[in-house]
Amino acid sequence: MTAMNETIKTIKERRSVRTYKDKPIEKEKINEILECGLMAPNARHLQPWKFIVVTNKDLIRETAKRVQDKVIDNPRYPFVKERLKTKEDAIFYSAPLVIFILGDKENKWSKIDCSLAAENMMLASKSLGLGSCPIGMARHLKDEKDLIEKLGFDENYELIITLVFGYSDEEPELKERKKDVVEWIE
Ligand SMILES: Cc1cc2nc3c(=O)[nH]c(=O)nc-3n(C[C@H](O)[C@H](O)[C@H](O)COP(=O)(O)O)c2cc1C
Repeated sequence: MTAMNETIKTIKERRSVRTYKDKPIEKEKINEILECGLMAPNARHLQPWKFIVVTNKDLIRETAKRVQDKVIDNPRYPFVKERLKTKEDAIFYSAPLVIFILGDKENKWSKIDCSLAAENMMLASKSLGLGSCPIGMARHLKDEKDLIEKLGFDENYELIITLVFGYSDEEPELKERKKDVVEWIE
């Protein structure tokens, strides 16, 4: 194996974190995370994204609650009920920072570009001593017009992925990766 440099270590040690300390993230760190998102490669350099950064505790709680209420009885998500046994917020995990990544509806590469930005941001946060988790579940906000307005989503953009960040209060296990998904042609 090659020597592990810092970048490879960061990639391999990132985990989805679902328990956070009740501690805000420093502004400089948030700005660094955002800058790393902006540095992602993107098709034709059209940068078809917008980042909505939320640190307001009440708004984070309200948004999580809205999603939670929508999905709580959905049999597709039994883990939401399960997590509510130990957590107050089973959607954003009471994280102090939520970033909604929106993609330009007219750009066919939006999903890919925004996903690349998302991974940059999660890796940057890991390198800064923070945990993160992508929250696909937040897509259930889609029809919550009042909240979407409150969050300032541009109507020409759609929510691609939501990320939460914070100081981790757990050490999640490594989730094993499939080994039989690589084919070499030499
Ligand atoms: C598109 C996407 C959506 C996800 N949505 C959620 C979610 O709503 N809630 C959650 O707790 N984790 C969510 N995750 C995290 C995955 O469960 C996690 O990445 C996966 O189990 C692998 O674990 P790891 O990130 O610790 O390696 C999502 C991940 C991705 C990529």
